[in-house]
Amino acid sequence: MSPHPPKRALVTGGSAGIGKETVRALAAQGCEVIVAARDASKGEAVLAAIQAEHPGAQLSFHALDLSQPDAVVAFAQQVRARWDRIDALVLNAGLFTPALRTGSTGHEFMFATTHLGHFMLTHQLLPLVEAAPAGRIVVTSSVAHFFGGGLDFDSLREPSPSTFLMAAPFRAYGRSKLANLLFVRELARRLKGSKVLVNSFHPGSVKTEIWRGTPSLFNALIAPGLISEREGAQTQIFLATSPALTQSGQHWFRKKVERGSRPSRDPELARQLWTYSEQALGIKHFGRPQGPVDVAQARRA
Ligand SMILES: NC(=O)c1ccc[n+]([C@@H]2O[C@H](COP(=O)([O-])OP(=O)(O)OC[C@H]3O[C@@H](n4cnc5c(N)ncnc54)[C@H](OP(=O)(O)O)[C@@H]3O)[C@@H](O)[C@H]2O)c1
Repeated sequence: MSPHPPKRALVTGGSAGIGKETVRALAAQGCEVIVAARDASKGEAVLAAIQAEHPGAQLSFHALDLSQPDAVVAFAQQVRARWDRIDALVLNAGLFTPALRTGSTGHEFMFATTHLGHFMLTHQLLPLVEAAPAGRIVVTSSVAHFFGGGLDFDSLREPSPSTFLMAAPFRAYGRSKLANLLFVRELARRLKGSKVLVNSFHPGSVKTEIWRGTPSLFNALIAPGLISEREGAQTQIFLATSPALTQSGQHWFRKKVERGSRPSRDPELARQLWTYSEQALGIKHFGRPQGPVDVAQARRA
């Protein structure tokens, strides 16, 4: 067992697919789990089922749309008011949208959710991860980050419909996953020397709800190769809990370090994305959130 087994984890997108299996595994280990996702009725039903399997588990569901920075800040304030430490911050929520959409900041929706939403959440909750004796941050990326190519910063806001024809949704998904990987590289660089380990991973091609947005012909072609949600969660669970882990800033697949695409290893691109994200979200001192936390109000919410 780890000298510091996780006592408390926060899992975004823990109401379905890969994240749900990680919540189940953490609950089985006696870890308290805070789950955030959009659909409250789905999330509460999933947690009730896991609770029934592990009656002593401490689980809570919180409705959150990561594409809305204000909602992320409000949620994080509630978390900071109620808890003082997070051992494992599992940034797992993600989605594929087959048509052009933008979030409240005007960014393409997949990028807004998977990158900007998690960037803001990490900014807000980093002090709690740093308060843990062996904090972990785990980001679910994908082999699809190879489709992202590089990052064209001019098209991250207000993408024009013409950029969304044909394979463009796959490219946009890949770009959001490339951003996940670059975020991990730069965050690990900034946290060097701290106790916090931050890593990303590819879960494999997993049979989850994420494929509801992909074309049916594509789904028919990939169906035979899909692995189960439980299998897909194994590297995530490893990165969140294993005492054997010492690396930070790496990308993983099947519990082994992978190189990732050339742009994903570009430190200058990672720095540019960091600056872009701070400016887009109005963050001045990353990991040092400002603003009072109204404990009483947060507890009532
Ligand atoms: N399945 C695969 O083959 C595969 C491969 C590589 C990487 N991934 C990555 O693995 C992660 C988990 O995906 P999955 O396959 O397990 O998909 P899933 O079954 O569709 O689960 C996605 C989770 O993310 C949540 N979510 C989506 N959009 C959100 C938003 N705007 N705000 C808050 N929560 C949101 C969903 O909750 P709601 O339904 O309530 O929104 C759900 O809990 C994603 O990051 C995905 O990109 C998956």
